[in-house]
Amino acid sequence: MRLILLGPPGAGKGTQARMLSELAGVPQVASGDLLRAAVREKTALGVKVAGILERGDLVPDEMVVKLIEKRLDAPDARKGFILDGFPRSVPQAELLGAMLKGRGAAIDRVLAVMVPDEEIVKRISGRRTCRNCQAMYNVIFDPPRKPDACDKCGGELYQREDDAEATVRHRLEVYNATTRPLLDYYAGAGILARIEGVGRPEEVERRMIKALGGLIPANAKPGMSH
Ligand code: AP5
Repeated sequence: MRLILLGPPGAGKGTQARMLSELAGVPQVASGDLLRAAVREKTALGVKVAGILERGDLVPDEMVVKLIEKRLDAPDARKGFILDGFPRSVPQAELLGAMLKGRGAAIDRVLAVMVPDEEIVKRISGRRTCRNCQAMYNVIFDPPRKPDACDKCGGELYQREDDAEATVRHRLEVYNATTRPLLDYYAGAGILARIEGVGRPEEVERRMIKALGGLIPANAKPGMSH
């Protein structure tokens, strides 16, 4: 299964990609996670993009495409993947299409997670991530047992630098201007399904599995990954 999850910041793409990845047995490929890892590791790319991420602007296409291409070359992505955060513009979608065509492959389905702006700001302001294992929590919707400590490894929980409210609102503007046109692009290709993203993560997952039809194994059950 080759799947793209589209949606504004905080729509739950990462949450759903992790759940579907376990069900479908294909890796989640998250451009934001790959970029943040480069920043943490202070690679040449990481040093160049740190300020861009912090401002909530988009990293230049050629840098992201190179990173994704390398990730999709890994053996675990050969039988499929779930793209989360990429592509983010029509030019990135065209580059992805050409890259896959060169490998005799294509995207099977694009699921767009629809969530209103005010819900997004609320969700993102509550998001916390473990510095050590990158596990994610939400102080409002899915709090850790001890405040500020990861349930899984005890690591320190932090708030992403681009999750300040003003930056989130800027990321929403960037999404509307540059990424939203992808809804029409993939609808035109006949592979887009819009998914209502409000509701418990398990309910959203159930809607996604329904929209994926035969692409998910018939015995897969929503919530199986919890
Ligand atoms: P990226 O990391 O991709 O961020 P994003 O798209 O803004 O998405 P988020 O990670 O904020 O949210 P999400 O939709 O994954 O939601 P999540 O599941 O975490 O990109 C960051 C930056 O990297 C960009 O700004 C850009 O600079 C750069 N970048 C990345 N890709 C790029 C590209 N292709 N080109 C150029 N630049 C690029 O959920 C959010 C919160 O809500 C969590 O706390 C979660 O627990 C909670 N939650 C999830 N689902 C639910 C639910 N159903 N109900 C209640 N709460 C929920």
